[in-house]
Amino acid sequence: MMKLHRPAVRWIALFALLLLVLSAAACSGQGKPESDEPVKPSNPGGPGDAVNLTGDVTNGKAVFEANCVSCHGPEGKGGVANPGSLDGTVPPLNPIDPGLKSSDAKTFTTNVDLFLEHGSTPEGDSPTLSMLKFGDDKLLKPQEIADVIAYVISLNK
Ligand code: HEC
Repeated sequence: MMKLHRPAVRWIALFALLLLVLSAAACSGQGKPESDEPVKPSNPGGPGDAVNLTGDVTNGKAVFEANCVSCHGPEGKGGVANPGSLDGTVPPLNPIDPGLKSSDAKTFTTNVDLFLEHGSTPEGDSPTLSMLKFGDDKLLKPQEIADVIAYVISLNK
């Protein structure tokens, strides 16, 4: 008698497991509206004066080469190791994280500006490299920030 029931029990268990896996998959897709929620730096703060200035791509390239290449690589292509960070490398800016991109120029500028103004520490136990506070620490002038943002955007057109 018991032997006849066993396969049925096994099928029910398998079906329950399948339902569990399917519902877990459905849940993980929720609450993540990819493009609505921009990637934000770890440090708080609003946009700087740079977002109201017109950036110059040619000058921005020079600013980039003097201040950004060491961490983000030539033309922002990345490949720079960042031991102790969760990613293991400094993020490339070419191509840039889709969560920073926007078809609206002002939104794209603001998303990048927040990192430049206030800096950001990557996730991980002890990241060797962190994004510098170019605005807050007055490492770059607002016009230079506007220029380098224009250059970064030009790399992602
Ligand atoms: C000392 C190394 C260093 C320098 C110099 C540096 N960055 Fe960064 N930058 C980082 C790190 C590390 C991150 C990742 C921060 C994080 O994950 O929170 C980052 C993140 C960014 C981001 C956000 C990218 C993303 O995918 O999250 C932008 C935009 C950026 N940097 C632009 C620049 C620009 C432009 C310059 C030059 C003016 C520059 N950075 C100079 C280390 C640096």
